[in-house]
Amino acid sequence: MDIVIVKNYIEMSKVAAGLVRDCIREQEEPVLGLATGGTPIGLYQLLVRQYRAGLLSFKHMRTFNLDEYIGLDPAHSKSYHRYMQEHLFSHIDIPRDQTFLPDGMASNLEKECRHYEKLLKKFGPPDLQILGIGENGHIGFNEPGSDFNGHTHVISLADSTREANARYFQSLEEVPTHAITMGIKSILHSKKIVLLASGERKAAAVRRLLEGTPDPTFPASALSQHNDVVLIADEKAFGN
Ligand code: F6R
Repeated sequence: MDIVIVKNYIEMSKVAAGLVRDCIREQEEPVLGLATGGTPIGLYQLLVRQYRAGLLSFKHMRTFNLDEYIGLDPAHSKSYHRYMQEHLFSHIDIPRDQTFLPDGMASNLEKECRHYEKLLKKFGPPDLQILGIGENGHIGFNEPGSDFNGHTHVISLADSTREANARYFQSLEEVPTHAITMGIKSILHSKKIVLLASGERKAAAVRRLLEGTPDPTFPASALSQHNDVVLIADEKAFGN
């Protein structure tokens, strides 16, 4: 794993934006794996800025998001569909039908998981996958105990994840209990993985990640099985 330690959130976002830009420029039809949450917002802002400055086009890019809550309509203000529209897609020139997220409203969730995995096989794997990390070590919504060989599946969110994400909702009760997430195996298929971590809250998880021993109770440790992972952590997440 390559480790880049930067001063703060803004620097983390800049380094990540540089890697995404290189990937988009190098590939004719780039495929990007995307995350939501607080961590990549700065990265998306910088990509929008580069697009507006005429430095980058997303016309030929396809994107796959890691996860979506079950039971939230795409138009729901807290759905990841809506998040992606608000933070990235509606501001750039990516055609809507080149952006993929799991459908958390599907009547047959198992079928939806298989369908998403098929799309990943057809258009993927991502040339570059952006990841955040949960305080409990989750990547995507692969909670502790998740199978390292897992593909896209339905997951019951850990209490600690619902509590951590309650800050994005009005109350803890509003936070969905389940999600669809790409599995650890699906994530590991990506050609390159960029893991972002910012702030003190992530310091314990980053420390454990750097121990480097694969351990299913700490899902992010599966990244030690991939040969092209870049961790971009700011000083606080790195424990400085
Ligand atoms: C989001 C995702 C999650 C988040 C993680 C960190 O699509 O897959 O793994 O990356 O929960 O969330 P933030 O960035 O809000 O701390």
